[in-house]
Amino acid sequence: MRRDSPRWLKLPAYAKLNLGLEVLGVRQDGYHELRTLFQTIDLKDDVELTLADRGVTIACDHPGVPTDDSNLAVRAARELLAFSRSGRGARIRLVKRIPVAGGLGGGSSDAATVLRGLDRLLGLGLGATELHRLARRLGADVPFFLVGGTALGLARGDEVYPLRRQIEAHFVLVDPQRPVSTAAVFRRVDESLTPRENGNTIFRFVSSDLEGTGAFSALTNELEAAALTEVPELGEVVRRIREILLGDGARMAALSGSGSSFFGLFEDGRQARRAESRLQAAGFRALRGRTITFEQYGRAWSRALGRSRGGGRTR
Ligand code: C5P
Repeated sequence: MRRDSPRWLKLPAYAKLNLGLEVLGVRQDGYHELRTLFQTIDLKDDVELTLADRGVTIACDHPGVPTDDSNLAVRAARELLAFSRSGRGARIRLVKRIPVAGGLGGGSSDAATVLRGLDRLLGLGLGATELHRLARRLGADVPFFLVGGTALGLARGDEVYPLRRQIEAHFVLVDPQRPVSTAAVFRRVDESLTPRENGNTIFRFVSSDLEGTGAFSALTNELEAAALTEVPELGEVVRRIREILLGDGARMAALSGSGSSFFGLFEDGRQARRAESRLQAAGFRALRGRTITFEQYGRAWSRALGRSRGGGRTR
């Protein structure tokens, strides 16, 4: 361990939205070839990390979060500790604010944060390539959280390219609290999958062919129909949420990932606040915030890794 390594860290794990998601086909590894537009938002979990003599333990304030090896953060810690050959263990404490199993990447973000945090605590100095290699073994969404901001996700969603055009907007999202199984949604997609070529909306969005506010409304999530078939009672809920969001001026309204979180993107903060109030009045639990750009994400990480540096602090 390097002498300047901190003893513990408190780090952010930001959520993501999929502003658009296209399923291009089935891969030989059984996963799906995707093209998706990822966007970091300022909704976050807190991840506290401390080195331990051996083993990995996790504590979480949310009853829906597993505290065994099925938790991706635990698996991330085990992978990184094994890779480090340090013989050390880790204690993880999670403060959960990102809705669980909601298509917002909470578990994947926690895992990416654990990778970065333990790298720092152990003073390994792993580069982007090594962290990315560990991340993609944990799950298709994990690599994005090493990048952040507005980014294009290709292959399984784990080939990530930050875009020159970073989106600055307000979001309002609703967690209908009906967890959807990602694997089940992808299986449903297979029933209607047809071969695709370039020329559709994300490709055009990224290539600047689609500019201005109309570009957002052209984005769609091709998992939505499958998610609504998988969880039929979600259909009516989504219809009502979409109507309120678009009625209050959202540039786009869509399901994130395989759901069930449903969000709207607004240019105007006042419209976002109005939509939030209207959703709450209709009985929905709504969350509001802002998108985070690639640069802001990088700065948040530098601050978190720097500020927590403190030698003598133990927990
Ligand atoms: O990689 P992760 O464990 O997050 O993916 C969850 C499930 O979603 C996978 O088991 C797979 O069934 C499906 N999936 C897929 N194609 C992708 C990403 C996920 O089929 N590109």
